[in-house]
Amino acid sequence: MTMSLPSRRKFLTQTAAGLALSLSGAAAFAESRRPLGSAESTLIPYGAAVRAGALASDPTYRATIARMCDMIVPEGEMKWSDIHPKRDEYRFENADALVDFARQNHLGIRGHTLAWYGALPAWTSELASAAEAERELVDHIETVVSRYRGAVPSWDVVNEPLIDWPQDRSSIRPSIWMNRLGPEYLPIALKATASTDPDAKLVLNEYDVEYRGARFEARRRSLIQLLRWLRDRDVPLHAVGLQAHLFAGRGIDRDGLQSLLAEIVALKLDVLITELDVIDFDLPGKIKERDALVAATAAEFLGACCEVVRPKAILTWGLTDRYTWVPTYFKRADGMPNRPLPLDAEFKPKPLFDVIEEYRRKLT
Ligand code: G3I
Repeated sequence: MTMSLPSRRKFLTQTAAGLALSLSGAAAFAESRRPLGSAESTLIPYGAAVRAGALASDPTYRATIARMCDMIVPEGEMKWSDIHPKRDEYRFENADALVDFARQNHLGIRGHTLAWYGALPAWTSELASAAEAERELVDHIETVVSRYRGAVPSWDVVNEPLIDWPQDRSSIRPSIWMNRLGPEYLPIALKATASTDPDAKLVLNEYDVEYRGARFEARRRSLIQLLRWLRDRDVPLHAVGLQAHLFAGRGIDRDGLQSLLAEIVALKLDVLITELDVIDFDLPGKIKERDALVAATAAEFLGACCEVVRPKAILTWGLTDRYTWVPTYFKRADGMPNRPLPLDAEFKPKPLFDVIEEYRRKLT
């Protein structure tokens, strides 16, 4: 049964009027497409990480993504393990499917990710020298970025470069790239992307820069030092992605976060919220209470951000609780499903959805 859902415009009108939206299946999809270039285009674009497999097998998911998002980002299909599983083999079918889906549904699509310690296929561990590692890193970037040139305008070129508790910008996380090339892998990756697609927006993507505490202060400080190091060497970079995998129990360091954002703006870099979700594993089990705490956490974070800078985009790491990474690492002790995303597992909007809609309208 295809869950029906009014178009985004109708949904927003209803929500704005405070009407309860029923997704009982009675509501029919409105015929009108999401208007391009309409008044809504002044809103901060919203997007979600998507899974090619679920798009192919779940028609409600497919339709809901198309209706509710302005853009998508592959959750895994453009990572090395998916797209370059063997040294002499690229597998583009899943990434191509997502690029085609975006094109067919007039959605933007971000690329994720080109230089990361994660999701690396086993063959990369055999790279024995700096020259070999550089050749493979650059070849991968040139092959993938050139294939999607014109279709993918924005790339998470460097993902999570810092160790969990860095001392300074030199505290780069171990990986084959760092082990073979040192911190130089960042400029190498950024320059290779820029020369392959001069129109692409290059993003450095990080997490855990939002909270109070010495570790998070160290991460904010080290991130700014790293950005300055890149800027001082004229390394091409356009934006910083704040992943924003938030934890409801932690306290947002409003001053710390806002001074980080002010420094990023001063470096003439844009800001994207790239992977927003709220990890609820240690929240009370009662759904209404938990959803309210999740929404309040996101509101605190987005409120602090939007006072300083208008993010170029707000993306959540998934759209619906039906498909989320969170239980992989943060299962709830009570065994209840996690509820980290804007729509629940039956695609019903939650308070978090309303918070995102509210902050998309901020015109700071
Ligand atoms: O597809 C295989 C499947 O064939 C196999 O049977 C199964 C058993 O291991 O693994 C499946 O691959 C998994 C993949 O997700 C697809 O589901 C990998 O093991 C698993 O490690 C991978 O996890 C992803 C993780 O990144 C590592 O790539 C998560 O879904 C994804 O949400 C997560 O996303 C990251 C961002 O890229 C960076 N920021 C943090 C964020 C959350 O960790």
